[in-house]
Amino acid sequence: MSGKRAAWRLARACVAGGICAVSMAAPADSPPKLSNAAVASAHPLATRAGVDILRRGGNAFDAAVAVSAALAVVEPMGSGLGGGGFFLLHRARDGLDTMVDGRERAPLAARADMYRDADGRVIPRASLDGPLAAAIPGEPAALAYIAARYGKLPLADSLAAAIQHARSGFAVTARLQQLLKQRQKVFNPHARAVYLAGGDPPALGAMIRQPQLAETLEALSDHGRDGFYAGPVAERLISGVVAGGGIWAREDLARYRVVERTPVRGTYLDVQVISAAPPSSGGVVLVEMLNMLENWTLPRMEAPARVHYLVEAMRRAYRDRALYLGDPDFVPIGVQQLVSKSYARKQVASITDMATPSGDLGDDLAGGGADTTHFSVLDSQGNRVAATLSINSAFGSGFMPAATGVLLNNEMDDFSSKPGVANVYGLVGGTANAIAPGKRPLSSMTPTFLETDDSVAALGTPGGSRIITMVLLAALDFAHGERDPAAMVERPRFHHQYLPDQIFFEPGALAPATLAGLRERGHIAEPHKERYGNMQMIVWDKQSGVVRAASDPRGEGAAQVVALETREARRPPVDTARLSGLPHRSPDRTPLQAPTQSLQPIR
Ligand code: DON
Repeated sequence: MSGKRAAWRLARACVAGGICAVSMAAPADSPPKLSNAAVASAHPLATRAGVDILRRGGNAFDAAVAVSAALAVVEPMGSGLGGGGFFLLHRARDGLDTMVDGRERAPLAARADMYRDADGRVIPRASLDGPLAAAIPGEPAALAYIAARYGKLPLADSLAAAIQHARSGFAVTARLQQLLKQRQKVFNPHARAVYLAGGDPPALGAMIRQPQLAETLEALSDHGRDGFYAGPVAERLISGVVAGGGIWAREDLARYRVVERTPVRGTYLDVQVISAAPPSSGGVVLVEMLNMLENWTLPRMEAPARVHYLVEAMRRAYRDRALYLGDPDFVPIGVQQLVSKSYARKQVASITDMATPSGDLGDDLAGGGADTTHFSVLDSQGNRVAATLSINSAFGSGFMPAATGVLLNNEMDDFSSKPGVANVYGLVGGTANAIAPGKRPLSSMTPTFLETDDSVAALGTPGGSRIITMVLLAALDFAHGERDPAAMVERPRFHHQYLPDQIFFEPGALAPATLAGLRERGHIAEPHKERYGNMQMIVWDKQSGVVRAASDPRGEGAAQVVALETREARRPPVDTARLSGLPHRSPDRTPLQAPTQSLQPIR
């Protein structure tokens, strides 16, 4: 072996083996070039599935399929084949930004008043528990679509790790155990048999095996979308739902289609913002808030004033969410107007030094995170994915049709069951988000890319209605110069969503003096019992080639940066490499699964 080749082998072995530092010069004429790639997700096994696909020559889109499928198995409370989500993609070859909309659709037999009683009152939990709460899943179709249209590898390759984890089992984590305790009462017998095999929530580290889910994944792997939406799996889904009192029909599955949509775009200072389009409210609300906030020099402001203006922008943008946003295939939405700078100036004109009561904003409505998942992927060519996937509440509706292993979502609760009546996240809505057959419920999921001349970030988080303000706070940090994703995913959070008219904040997020200042301005501020969100973020410095990735310390996820050989490196080759990981938070986390990693050239 030549000296040159031996040196490169050493570099790669170090990268593959986890934390190590290498300092050696790459000969200028050496053909193998290293370029950095990264995956950040809510579970170490899902991150590893994505990294393995990248190492085997898959692109970011193949890795996204692998990560999604693995999360469906090892994070069953957050997302899965019984749910849906939004995949924001950037293709480096031609600069395409697109959003694959794999959001669930209401069954064709759904009706606007289906969760109301004879007196027109919303029936508590009817849109949350059991098969009547489940919309038609979109994730399986989205995975097949992304693999076929954007991937390089066969779908079967990208699903292999998930199938293996479903069959061999995965270890119960603290978060899974805690959520099983909380939600076990809604499980039907088939779901209980999988997740509560002994009758009680499993012990930490106990293995959960899902052989029926493995078979359903295999059907998808063998037959593409038809493996789920037609044939034996579809039959089992329909008969299980109908037997449980649900309203799915064969036609619902046969007619499900993903839709590719143009992402919402905006700017804040020198940052390009690319984010989720309707039927997510995420991009519109995010860009509206940023547009309003551009009218102040936030970094120069003291905390109470700064938080006050942020909250007033949140209030106004969430009001528009409630009034105007829904499925664009059903309701006309003036996205361009809502995200325009001129509209923001009008909104800002109503902001004063005091809190504006939400009720004073011309309200035409009556009345008043540990679930879902996000991951980010960057490959060595600069392709990237930010995807937020959901089955809504933890473990969705708790309903698993017999012999499928598929836990169904309760995404129907994201519709407005009645104008002005709040859903599980306290969100209100009007006719734009009313239930209709085949309609997609309005979402808050906000997978986002942020770009400046020198840097690119891919980020997102679960957290229901709070998703958009979490992404806002990270986007502001990025725009004001922060480049360390670990700092951005960790930062304390606060939130306002128009109604209820109060600021929510994480314990310790607002200092006592700030709180006092906000209350003087007329705000009501209530601390959350717990911290919230589970942000997964990658930042790529285009000038230096440094890639950093971070997984939210509130969760159990893992971020990993890897150096991959590439024929056409995106940037001048990495001369030397250093892989470093932060200390692990749990004893079972191996160095490869460190929560935060950065791989950067040594100068
Ligand atoms: O699409 C939405 O907005 C919700 N179904 C997301 C739910 C969620 O993030 C739950 N996490 N805590």
